[in-house]
Amino acid sequence: MIRVGIIGFGFMGRMHYRCWKSMKNARVAALCDANRQACHDTGRSHGNIAGAEGEVDLSSVTVYADPDEMLAREKLDAVSITVPTHLHAALTVKALEQGVHVLCEKPMALSPADGQWMIEAAEKSGKALQIGHCIRFWPEYSKAKEIVDGGAYGRVLTASFQRYSATAYSKKGSWFADEEKSGGMVFDLHIHDTDFVQHLFGMPAAVCSHAALTPGGGISHIFTRYQYPGGPLVTAEGGWAMTPSYGFEMKFLILMEKAVLSFSSGSSPTLKLYPAEGEVSAPRIEAGDGYSRQIEYFVKTVRGETVPIVTTPKQALNSLCIAEAERDSARKGNCINVN
Ligand SMILES: NC(=O)c1ccc[n+]([C@@H]2O[C@H](COP(=O)([O-])OP(=O)(O)OC[C@H]3O[C@@H](n4cnc5c(N)ncnc54)[C@H](O)[C@@H]3O)[C@@H](O)[C@H]2O)c1
Repeated sequence: MIRVGIIGFGFMGRMHYRCWKSMKNARVAALCDANRQACHDTGRSHGNIAGAEGEVDLSSVTVYADPDEMLAREKLDAVSITVPTHLHAALTVKALEQGVHVLCEKPMALSPADGQWMIEAAEKSGKALQIGHCIRFWPEYSKAKEIVDGGAYGRVLTASFQRYSATAYSKKGSWFADEEKSGGMVFDLHIHDTDFVQHLFGMPAAVCSHAALTPGGGISHIFTRYQYPGGPLVTAEGGWAMTPSYGFEMKFLILMEKAVLSFSSGSSPTLKLYPAEGEVSAPRIEAGDGYSRQIEYFVKTVRGETVPIVTTPKQALNSLCIAEAERDSARKGNCINVN
């Protein structure tokens, strides 16, 4: 039985808790939040995607306010790190140094240097480090990857991804609004698509981004073209200043030589395949959501099971580098090479 601790019990901490609770070979032994009250919160919906709500039964978990104390007292095998982003790197390194496997939320960190520090700590400790790039595990997205890689419909000609949320309204004044803590919209929201673009097509040679800025100079909406010389035309758009009545939406459209693949979240999310010949179909997707499937993958890694590679810390670091280049490109007004 894997003994698990969760550090940070806000929206994503609750989401991880729900996923961990459904795992047969793991037990949440401890929760830690700097704001003790967060653990006793009745769980209103805080986030984009529902699923973190609900009462939490604290009768079999020990609650801490200090991560150091939790790591020192509990003999944990693994932790979920679900604190604000500026705290990811230091807490991850601390847990790894104490011999604890780490599943840390995305974005990995606020700078590539911190991401590299986390990777080195994982290598030194020999423990698993996984970054919560849940879109790689999202059933419709992982099916899209399977279809594209399968090649039955030919090469990808164009691919476009969109991700919208009303964060600017719902989290006004919170740490999300502070780029020093969250990395801003590009690191916090848009990086999901940056990472999925990398997952599908590898590292782009360069990025060319355009953005709408907030009065304070933050990026509230971005359009990026990822350059793949000789390859597909790939773009992604992200914005977190959608009105509350619009809310959250993620979607994509992939044009291959012999089919179009499309997905939109929403009231009845459906992945659809429109082949050049034959019937339009809804490809069968795996049950569950990206959050629970990424934790299942993490558990297999921790248990030493052989798994196909879906995500690595180096790829998470790459996504950080691409996202950083996108932010620079949007601000400087020119394309930026990605190394
Ligand atoms: N994968 C996804 O789809 C997704 C969605 C939302 C957020 N996130 C990521 O998850 C992370 C957390 O976001 P959230 O929405 O849960 O934020 P949140 O504000 O809802 O929760 C963060 C919690 O961490 C606690 N905390 C702060 N400092 C702490 C410390 N030093 N020790 C212990 N607890 C501390 C806060 O009190 C709060 O309860 C961020 O990195 C964010 O980017 C990922």
